[in-house]
Amino acid sequence: MIMCGIIGCALRDGNAAPLIRKALERLEYRGYDSVGEATIDNSNLVIKKDQGKIADIHKKLDLDDLPGPTGIGHTRWATHGAPSQVNAHPHTDCKEKIAVVHNGIIENFVELREELERKGHKFKSRCDTEVIPHLIEENLNSDTDFIMAVRNTARRLEGTYAIAVLSVEKPDRLICIRKESPLVLGIGEEGNFCASDIPALLPLTRNIIYLNEGELAVLDPEGVELSDLESYTKRIPEIEEISWTVETAERAGYPHFMLKEINEQPETVKNALRTQEVYIDLMSTILDKADQVFLVAAGTAYHACLAGTYMFSELANLNAQAAIASEFKERYGKLIGKNSVILAVSQSGETMDTLSAIRYALDRGATVLGITNVMGSTVTRLTGIYIGQNSGPEIGVASTKAYTAQAMILARLAIKLGEKRKTISSDKVGKLNQTLKDMPSILERILKTQTNRTKDLATKYRDRESFCFLGRGIDYVTALEGRLKLLELAYPPSLAYPAGESKHGFIAVVEDGYPLIFIAPKTSTQNELIGNIMEMKARGGSIISITEEGDQKILALSDDFIEIPKGIPEILTPIPYILPLQLFAYYSALERNRDPDQPRNLAKSVTVK
Ligand code: G6P
Repeated sequence: MIMCGIIGCALRDGNAAPLIRKALERLEYRGYDSVGEATIDNSNLVIKKDQGKIADIHKKLDLDDLPGPTGIGHTRWATHGAPSQVNAHPHTDCKEKIAVVHNGIIENFVELREELERKGHKFKSRCDTEVIPHLIEENLNSDTDFIMAVRNTARRLEGTYAIAVLSVEKPDRLICIRKESPLVLGIGEEGNFCASDIPALLPLTRNIIYLNEGELAVLDPEGVELSDLESYTKRIPEIEEISWTVETAERAGYPHFMLKEINEQPETVKNALRTQEVYIDLMSTILDKADQVFLVAAGTAYHACLAGTYMFSELANLNAQAAIASEFKERYGKLIGKNSVILAVSQSGETMDTLSAIRYALDRGATVLGITNVMGSTVTRLTGIYIGQNSGPEIGVASTKAYTAQAMILARLAIKLGEKRKTISSDKVGKLNQTLKDMPSILERILKTQTNRTKDLATKYRDRESFCFLGRGIDYVTALEGRLKLLELAYPPSLAYPAGESKHGFIAVVEDGYPLIFIAPKTSTQNELIGNIMEMKARGGSIISITEEGDQKILALSDDFIEIPKGIPEILTPIPYILPLQLFAYYSALERNRDPDQPRNLAKSVTVK
């Protein structure tokens, strides 16, 4: 999970709070909607937490002013429960003796919360994390040993977690566990630490231990003990010395945030599948009943919407219009009324054009739904129902991981609606859902096998002044998004065309060596696409194809190619096929001495009309 940052400190003496606060500042890029710290003072838990950025909360509450050498801290990126003081971490049990910080998502928190409430536990927040301290408290009724109570708690948790637990019973100790979410331990001179990632720890120590999947660590100022959560088998810690600078460490060793975010996609598409089934169900019911449906967004999010319209039409017989937010009112304004449904898609949740379209639709009595990556953003406040993408902060200006996550969520909605309307067979539903589940490993494989090839292509074509991206059906959307990535990052004025339309005008541009990027999976229109490739080849164009592994028909026609794993259903191709184009844009930017993280003239979040 790339959201939220946690830190824990067990010092020999002195106060942990100032170190925790500074470490949280270094973790702020992982999330920044709320912050909190807990330490132990004279057998009492003391906590400061609030909604807002660390610097502001520190000014208001003086986060350094918490006594005690042992403590935990958290910077939050809301997933369950809006950003607010009560939802901020650390969370505690009923008696306020146990404090927990958590990064991840507890998928079965509703069931656990109900069970614990039946047993008399009182919850203060709406956050999934709060079940953890209550469950530890509950387990302590039967387990006398605190560590055992944490182990037994972990056994009940479904989802992902990196957790640090503080308890007044053992005031000099921290207990950490992890499943899928990252957690590293630091062995320092002043004491020992745990944190979501290395940048938080670098000024404190360079001696790092990576916690394994399903492992429990007990930390005190003198040392660290590691054991497997299930088998209890002990592991001798292997300490690694880190040579990264703080800056490189923030990017997890990648030279740019964009490359880091491209490589995070196996994880972020997985996050897009987690939880929220009830919202998918609810939204699809609302879409089912609507007279008209508009998918409204800007930039890359608009391309996700465009892909969504193909998905809704193909899988659920739903005629949804994709609307560029800044054109929405002029193009569709008078049509919007009580029976219209607007689904607004925005990574930041703050794009002014998208917000204006939402406000306009609300004024006309329409139902407005949202998909966004930022909980607490204006989109979450204006829309009746919204889905969080769970992609973690996206820092590179050009959107990458947010796009594939949006496409995953739109695909889930279209499949769900298709099931409701009985427009797709249960076999097909099974196959599509299976491909969505397999998507993390499909993307992993593309990144592993095709990154160098894409880099070589960027080198080979580094002097070309223009490109054209072509595809048929939903692959036209991939052509548009591939073109946008290249424009944003490397700036060659380029085109994107529906391949079938290319003979009506565009073909005049093609001459010897003109680079044409064909999105060419094995789909129902592949024969027509081959015809279009031949037309371009006959005019001397250089053919670069993004195609299925071993597809000889396409390979034989291509000057260069990138291969994507076989068997992706046509309607889901936008998700894997965009990856090489993101990489191509990234490496083309480097080849042309452009800064991929901060392209000229662009902004991450455009809050003007
Ligand atoms: C800007 C960014 C794009 C982004 C678009 C929409 O133009 O540079 O990367 O796709 O805004 O942003 P949103 O946050 O609404 O998805």
